[in-house]
Amino acid sequence: MTKTEENLRAAFAGESQANRRYLAFAERAEREGYPEVSRLFRAAAESETVHALFHLRIMKEVKSTKENLETAITGETYEYEKMYPEFIEVAQAEGNKAAVRSFSYAKDVEIGHAERYKEGLESVKDGRDLEPTDYFVCQICGYIVAGETLETCPICGSPREKFKTIG
Ligand code: FE2
Ligand code: FE2
Ligand code: FE2
Repeated sequence: MTKTEENLRAAFAGESQANRRYLAFAERAEREGYPEVSRLFRAAAESETVHALFHLRIMKEVKSTKENLETAITGETYEYEKMYPEFIEVAQAEGNKAAVRSFSYAKDVEIGHAERYKEGLESVKDGRDLEPTDYFVCQICGYIVAGETLETCPICGSPREKFKTIG
């Protein structure tokens, strides 16, 4: 990897993080009664997304949907099989209960991501799209359910109102 390729990776990571960080800052500003500061954070967040996507395009890491699904499955599988279990172990040893919870939610939810992506990959290999469906995403743990909301989230136990619709 050239130095510039390395820098593109670093810049993509940084800009992606800035996007999510600014959206979280925007929410906080809204809650503190600064709607215009919130708007500025949202505008900057959008701008960082433009930067992130430009870097990503140059990195040529967006491939065919079949390849992208394979990449996604590899990433999700690594996260739930190796990365999160290790992170959880360390957080437990350090007595950081909040981190244990956050990592555990993510680990449990990534399993579902990998499964859904595998279904997507099978479809695409057969030359067809997935069946149309709405998705509902738990705003506490990230669990995805398709088709209809659940009474309670199977991962974190949150009620139906905590699910956001991705229509
Ligand atoms: Fe930027
Ligand atoms: Fe995931
Ligand atoms: Fe949940």
